Amino acid sequence: MSSPLMVRSSKGQYEVTFVEHASERIAGLVAEGAQVVCDANVARIHADLIAGVPEDQLVLLEALEPNKTMDKAQWLMQTVSGRQLRRNQQLVAIGGGIVQDVTAFSASILYRGIDWTFVPTTLLAQADSCIGGKTSINLGDRKNLIGSFHPPAEVVVDLGFLESLSDDDIRSGIGEMMHYFLYADSPLAQALIDDHAAVLSDRKKLRPYIEESLTIKRVVIEEDEFDRGERNKFNYGHTFGHALEAVTRFAVNHGQAVTVGMDLANRLSTEHGMLDETEAGRLHQLLAVNLPKYDWASLDLDEYLSALGSDKKNVSANLTCILSRGPGKLFKHSLPLDASLRRSISEYFASIS
Ligand SMILES: NC(=O)c1ccc[n+]([C@@H]2O[C@H](COP(=O)([O-])OP(=O)(O)OC[C@H]3O[C@@H](n4cnc5c(N)ncnc54)[C@H](O)[C@@H]3O)[C@@H](O)[C@H]2O)c1
Repeated sequence: MSSPLMVRSSKGQYEVTFVEHASERIAGLVAEGAQVVCDANVARIHADLIAGVPEDQLVLLEALEPNKTMDKAQWLMQTVSGRQLRRNQQLVAIGGGIVQDVTAFSASILYRGIDWTFVPTTLLAQADSCIGGKTSINLGDRKNLIGSFHPPAEVVVDLGFLESLSDDDIRSGIGEMMHYFLYADSPLAQALIDDHAAVLSDRKKLRPYIEESLTIKRVVIEEDEFDRGERNKFNYGHTFGHALEAVTRFAVNHGQAVTVGMDLANRLSTEHGMLDETEAGRLHQLLAVNLPKYDWASLDLDEYLSALGSDKKNVSANLTCILSRGPGKLFKHSLPLDASLRRSISEYFASIS
């Protein structure tokens, strides 16, 4: 993808461009009066990036899950509107998914909607969340319960940010990319696992994987922007993953929780006669490379099942999740939240201990 990736949305078309130095694009937007919302860690580590941004056009935000609140969004809107940001000027979010969510949500309602540009700095944000237009805010301890669809005006990807991420942050992004590759039965699923050690030590090697991930996601979000059909399949691994993030108090990061979630969904698919055992074994070999290190014996199974039951996409005593007949063959399914599911999940966690 040497030319920009164009994404169509109900609010217009936007571009994802790969650049050498995001600072140049940020300076251009600042000159037009944009307010920059920057992850405080990114501002510390990449100080040059915002060195030229005037103090009254800069807002720093700590990328902490408890900051994804209505209060924080209100504080942000008060700050930028107090600085006389106009309807035709933009917010620029620099950071990962947390800064993205707070900024994009605020942009979606401030003055009934203003433009925002995203400079994603985590692998997860570069390969996944930067397109699609979802904005999410937590409500109490319930994640992403409030939100809107408000795609960015532009996405500026600078791979240099990947250098300062921890290996676990990279593994998290790999988990999210794997779920797109398995959704689409992309040959890059096997390639990324073969390259697992190489991309951890040389992050520039991630570019073709990021491009493939965005290309797969683009096709689906253009067809089902508001998540009413095909886009649901991107919940593959997520229902089981979100519950894992919650019960481990985020000790297991998002993308590796999704890796566990896909592996568990595959196992349940096999148990229900939908996924061939040989194929399930092959997929397990792939996903095992990206599983998190965790003391699975310490996982409170009752709490895990209760977290599964409170997933916002759940509408009854059944668990709605995405199962697999194999790569490229995902489908929505409903499983009773019963003793049999409990046993299967318990056996799964014992098997990866
Ligand atoms: N809106 C969406 O479509 C969407 C999609 C997926 C996830 N999300 C949300 O995204 C959030 C997770 O986002 P994330 O995983 O991108 O990261 P994050 O925003 O949670 O940041 C993780 C950590 O990395 C740090 N960081 C960010 N960039 C860095 C860099 N270049 N170098 C060093 N440290 C850096 C942050 O300061 C933070 O400490 C969750 O809240 C999730 O719900 C949103």
